[in-house]
Amino acid sequence: MGRLDGKVALITGAASGMGAAEARLFANEGAKVVLADIQDELGRKVTRVIEDTGRTATYMHLNVASEDEWRKVIAATVKLYGKLNVLVNNAGIGGALVRLHEYPTQDWDRVMAVNATGTFLGTKHAIPEMRKAGGGSIINVSSIYGLVGSAMEAAYPASKGAVRIFTKAAAIQYAKENIRVNSLHPGFIDTPQAAVLVHDPVERKKLIERTPLGRIAMPEDIAPGALFLASDESSYITGAELVMDGGITAQ
Ligand SMILES: NC(=O)c1ccc[n+]([C@@H]2O[C@H](COP(=O)([O-])OP(=O)(O)OC[C@H]3O[C@@H](n4cnc5c(N)ncnc54)[C@H](O)[C@@H]3O)[C@@H](O)[C@H]2O)c1
Repeated sequence: MGRLDGKVALITGAASGMGAAEARLFANEGAKVVLADIQDELGRKVTRVIEDTGRTATYMHLNVASEDEWRKVIAATVKLYGKLNVLVNNAGIGGALVRLHEYPTQDWDRVMAVNATGTFLGTKHAIPEMRKAGGGSIINVSSIYGLVGSAMEAAYPASKGAVRIFTKAAAIQYAKENIRVNSLHPGFIDTPQAAVLVHDPVERKKLIERTPLGRIAMPEDIAPGALFLASDESSYITGAELVMDGGITAQ
């Protein structure tokens, strides 16, 4: 018995990092998984590896900042697998690592479009299908920088804070329809997005020193949190924040 048997899950940003780890884990737990991303070649490669293990997965191109593309991907998912039960709004980008008085305004627009607007659009277009399915679970990937301030950057923490509070609004609006919406808050994870920090020996040492558990996490450390929120094991949890940060924000 898989923990997601019978469910259809759509994961954005699934070509890389945490999204790819979640796609592998969800498929292993019995879900039919749609991997969506803008890195088509990489996304197809991750999907083929899942299919080679005998699991069910499909790759679809999706720029989460485009409402038109969201309409097409949700419709194609339902056409292919009959319904939609789980959405992980995982796709995200960082911006310039500078203080906000120097922060490029075009970076603000770009980061907000992907991280905040992308999460809104995904939720907006998934909800009608989840209502038809009798319920669902939406997991919005925020960050520790949706909980506490960042010494650098402007748009990244603003976008991740938006994801956090948007999640609570969505949760209370659709709880009566059995649609649960929760946010996930990773700390420092070894993925391409964080490579500039976690692969720099000086920065890496600083990050590890900030982390009570004393290590940088791997995507596979975070995927089980998304699995729990996607599964019926979390049936009484909505509007909540699952913090997976090695203790950083407990200090
Ligand atoms: N790595 C960390 O330390 C860390 C910490 C906290 C939160 N996060 C968040 O976790 C999520 C996953 O990031 P990751 O660390 O696995 O990084 P990653 O770069 O490995 O993966 C992000 C994926 O999102 C995709 N993507 C980017 N823009 C997109 C768009 N417009 N439409 C569709 N897909 C798009 C990328 O192509 C990539 O495959 C992001 O939301 C990120 O902000 C990361």
